[in-house]
Amino acid sequence: MEINKKICMLGLGYIGLPTAALLANRGYNVHGVDIVEDVVDTINKGEIHIVEPELDTFVKAAVNSCKLIADIKPSEADIFIIAVPTPFKDNHIPNIDYVIDATKSIVPYIKDGNIVILESTSPVGTTEKIEETLKNEGIDTSKIYIAHCPERVLPGRIMQELVENDRIVGGITTEATEKVAEFYKTFVTGEVLKTDAKTAELCKLVENSFRDVNIAFANELSIICDKFGIDVWELRELANRHPRVNILYPGVGVGGHCIAVDPWFIVADAKDEAKLIRTARMVNTFKTEWVIEKIKNEILKYELENKRKPKIACMGLSFKPDIDDLRESPALYITRRLIKENYNILAVEPNIEEFNEFKIVNYEKAIYEANIIVFLVAHKEFKNLRISGNKKVLDFCGVFNG
Ligand SMILES: NC(=O)c1ccc[n+]([C@@H]2O[C@H](COP(=O)([O-])OP(=O)(O)OC[C@H]3O[C@@H](n4cnc5c(N)ncnc54)[C@H](O)[C@@H]3O)[C@@H](O)[C@H]2O)c1
Repeated sequence: MEINKKICMLGLGYIGLPTAALLANRGYNVHGVDIVEDVVDTINKGEIHIVEPELDTFVKAAVNSCKLIADIKPSEADIFIIAVPTPFKDNHIPNIDYVIDATKSIVPYIKDGNIVILESTSPVGTTEKIEETLKNEGIDTSKIYIAHCPERVLPGRIMQELVENDRIVGGITTEATEKVAEFYKTFVTGEVLKTDAKTAELCKLVENSFRDVNIAFANELSIICDKFGIDVWELRELANRHPRVNILYPGVGVGGHCIAVDPWFIVADAKDEAKLIRTARMVNTFKTEWVIEKIKNEILKYELENKRKPKIACMGLSFKPDIDDLRESPALYITRRLIKENYNILAVEPNIEEFNEFKIVNYEKAIYEANIIVFLVAHKEFKNLRISGNKKVLDFCGVFNG
């Protein structure tokens, strides 16, 4: 496939912008689209609105060479890539409205022979819904190649993993699979594996559910250990000496907008079948509530012993160590709940300077001032902290053991 093809990227967030910038640096002409004007303006200045290593260099080079132009409207292109959000509604039902809106937005620009790729993590059947939407809008889809190619990059390593990871391509037709696979082979050094659209959709959901189920096991284990008065970190290390056992780290729940969300996309459409996947979600959600109860019990103990209210340092807000991403973060949820219930909270997040909801406190200051120190996220800054004085430490993320 020639690199002089034009690409229209719909959605310029954590996935769309790095992909658009990478493709532009590889020589493609990229028309990036986002419905948020600020995002478009920032990118057109050669700047970025999200935190991701190396992304600024890629975007600056792409914009300076005029290979990447951001806009609030799509334009004609050879390849349309959809990388818009796929959240769920309150009742855990997937919301694919953004995908459908993005599909409708390309209708005036799409031509015979074009490729449409869905990169957003999607419930099974969404790629077919793209075809259905285009058909309903009067497009003859027999001449359009539609496929799903799920994204599996890790935030913090996106620029490398976009190139190095293996990719799954599943077309609505075999011809679509072939054409889209050919496109990915122009910039991916990992293997490009071919299947059909539904298998590609479920494959991505299953990858995240696998992680969720395994983390649920570790989280449940931590609660069982607490009941027996056993150190879960020691137990985990000992059990993992078995050659075929690999227990993951327990934590305060599961966050991020992938692992905490995608399993519900399976459960929603396979209610009776996805028993383990649903239970894992519930175990991980319960772990967060369990942590809140543990903290409150410690606060009560302090109040009874000292006849005054303690200051509590909530160490970490992001959904995993060493990033600034707060999406679906159980640590943020815990901190918010405690603040709402009027506890005296010092909220710490070394990866964020300012937060619009409450004050962020420097971690050394918080350690110094707090009576109870609660480790929610094992950030690298916390690993070598020396805690002196008569302070109660609750470590839910193995910051000193992990
Ligand atoms: N972030 C990750 O690490 C990651 C990893 C794998 C898969 N995914 C999946 O990729 C998809 C995108 O995730 P993200 O993290 O990039 O989301 P994001 O929220 O960072 O970015 C999505 C962007 O799409 C824009 N948008 C919404 N509707 C639009 C439309 N109709 N046209 C153009 N732009 C539109 C939004 O304004 C936003 O800027 C999701 O399905 C997500 O589950 C994300």
